[in-house]
Amino acid sequence: RSEPIEAPVVKSEAAKKVKIGIYFATWWALNVVFNIYNKKVLNAFPYPWLTSTLSLACGSLMMLISWATRIAETPKTDFEFWKTLFPVAVAHTIGHVAATVSMSKVAVSFTHIIKSGEPAFSVLVSRFLLGETFPSSVYLSLVPIIGGCALAAVTELNFNMIGFMGAMISNLAFVFRNIFSKKGMKGKSVSGMNYYACLSMLSLLILTPFAIAVEGPQMWAAGWQTALSEIGPNFVWWIAAQSVFYHLYNQVSYMSLDEISPLTFSIGNTMKRISVIVSSIIIFHTPVQPVNALGAAIAVLGTFLYSQVIFPRLWMNIV
Ligand code: 3PG
Repeated sequence: RSEPIEAPVVKSEAAKKVKIGIYFATWWALNVVFNIYNKKVLNAFPYPWLTSTLSLACGSLMMLISWATRIAETPKTDFEFWKTLFPVAVAHTIGHVAATVSMSKVAVSFTHIIKSGEPAFSVLVSRFLLGETFPSSVYLSLVPIIGGCALAAVTELNFNMIGFMGAMISNLAFVFRNIFSKKGMKGKSVSGMNYYACLSMLSLLILTPFAIAVEGPQMWAAGWQTALSEIGPNFVWWIAAQSVFYHLYNQVSYMSLDEISPLTFSIGNTMKRISVIVSSIIIFHTPVQPVNALGAAIAVLGTFLYSQVIFPRLWMNIV
């Protein structure tokens, strides 16, 4: 008798798992493609402030078209929504441009190894700026993350200070983005997809004047000519691909946030970095020393450990 009652529950649980599995696989695949085209573009056209702006512009345009054609429902927002979104957008802009500057200076794999240290930043910010305390197991779990990142950094063959600092700043900015967006998304009526769309638009407004001030049209025009003459018309497709895939992977990640806990999200994000690190090393023939790879493996493993240790706190809604 219990079968007819249990069967739909089991089925919907299984369906949810399949749905999340599809989200994750799509998120990682889109992210790998973004990272490859982003690096190809940056190698030929080293203007990360413009490429970061173009990614946000492309996403904003895609969403405006989706709303106009009713492919996606236009969100109902008010002044309060945009006010709460503002700090999230500032942090998103800084994190995005800093990561892109980093990738313009060092190997994609190196940026992502340093970015796998994001949980350590999360704990340190919560401890020293928000005054939150954690059990010693949480601090201990940071040892392999920080140690692994440090080992990978000191043994990196093509180390560059701007590249390293860019990834570190990106980590710090994304911790603040997560803290602010937790507040902004609580009890929200806007879907994950539309939340990210609004975030892109506001970030675009914030970033554009800075991109013009730091790089500017003159540099872009000269760089564009050089890239076009070296690569040919394909260069325009690379720019289009990095911009479209940037928006799509972020959109899918925010859509999956609607379905999963922050813990599952952070595990998913770490798994994503493994696929990006491995695929970019293969595609760009990045030289890796065994000790360098060991550092990366320790850092990534440390993130898993942290996820396990932090789980009870998330469960109790403390973090
Ligand atoms: C960016 O350009 O915003 C970064 O590559 C994003 O990093 P993420 O892997 O944390 O999304």
